[in-house]
Amino acid sequence: MRMRRLRSSDGLREMVAETRLSVDDLIYPLFIVEGTNIKREIPSLPQVFHFSVDRLEAEIRELEDLGIRAVLLFGVPDHKDACGSTAYDENGIIQRAIRQIQKTSKQILVITDVCMCEYTDHGHCGILNEAGEVLNDETVEYLARIAVSHAQAGADIIAPSDMMDYRVAGIRVALDEAGFVQIPIMAYSAKYASSYYGPFREAAGSAPSFGNRKTYQMDFRNANEAMREIALDIEEGADFIMVKPALAYLDVIRRAKDTFNMPLVAYNVSGEYAMILNAVKNGILAEEVIEETLLSIKRAGADLIISYHAKDWAQKRRDAR
Ligand code: PBG
Ligand code: ZN
Repeated sequence: MRMRRLRSSDGLREMVAETRLSVDDLIYPLFIVEGTNIKREIPSLPQVFHFSVDRLEAEIRELEDLGIRAVLLFGVPDHKDACGSTAYDENGIIQRAIRQIQKTSKQILVITDVCMCEYTDHGHCGILNEAGEVLNDETVEYLARIAVSHAQAGADIIAPSDMMDYRVAGIRVALDEAGFVQIPIMAYSAKYASSYYGPFREAAGSAPSFGNRKTYQMDFRNANEAMREIALDIEEGADFIMVKPALAYLDVIRRAKDTFNMPLVAYNVSGEYAMILNAVKNGILAEEVIEETLLSIKRAGADLIISYHAKDWAQKRRDAR
C-alpha cells in the first residue's frame, strides 16, 4: 500500500476528500445598531460591521448573491433597563431589522439570538433578584416573550442563547400558543462560560457589569454534562442543537454528533475569529488557515457553522471558481 498514491494530483485529492465545506453550511452573524446610515467596522472584530436598519438592504443583497442562506441577528439597543424591555418591544431594534430583511429577501432565513444581556442595564442574560442572582423561571417567561415578538416580526428560526433551564420548553409552548407551531428552535444547548466571547461583548455592549456567567453557562471542564444539556433541549423540543464555542470544543462537537441524530450547529465565536484574522492580517499565518479552521469544525461533525468568516469565505470561494 502506498498512501501517497491518492495524493498525487489535485484531481485525485478532490475525488477522495472526505469532508467538504459549502456556503450552504454557513450562517453569518449581523450586529444591528440604532441610528441611520451606519456601517461601521467593529474595533474588536476586524472586517465585521455594525449596521443601522436602513443600511441592511444592501448587505442582505450581497449575502444573497453569495449564496448565504441564513443570518443570525444581534441587537445593540440604545435603551437598557433591569428587565431588558426593549428586547420584546415590537419596534425594537431586532424587530425592525427582521421586517427590513424579510422585505428585502425572500431567500435569506432570519435567525434571531434570544437573550437578555444586550438589553439589561446589568448585562446579565436574565432577571436578577436583590442579591444579584439570575432568576431562572422568571427569566424564561421573558425569553418566551422575546421569542414570540421576534416571530411576530417575521423571524424564521429562534435561537435562545441564555442557558436558563427549561427555556426551550418555555419558548416552544409560547410560540405554539401564539400560533407559531412551524417556527424551529435552534438551541444554544452546550454553551460554555468562555473568554472567547470577549470581542462579541465589546461589539454588542453586553459584558456583565459585575460577576460572570458561570452560574448559567457551562464549566469548560465538562463534556458529559454537555450531553445532558443537549438531551434535555431535544426533549424540550429543540429542532437544532448547538455547541459553542467551536475550536476549543471540537471533542464536544464530535460527541454530540455521534450521540444525537440531530442537525448540529457549531458557533465559531468572536474570539476564535479575532485570533485568526489578526494573525492573518499581521502576516503571522497564511490566509488558508481560515479554510483549514472551518473545515476542522465540519470534520468534527458540525452540520452548520455560525461564523464571522462566512461572508469573506463565500466571496473567496466564488472568486476562485
Ligand atoms: C448572548 C450571546 C453571546 C454570544 C452569542 N450570544 C455572548 C455571551 O454569552 O456573553 C457570543 C458570540 C461570540 O462570541 O461570537 N448571550
Ligand atoms: Zn446573554
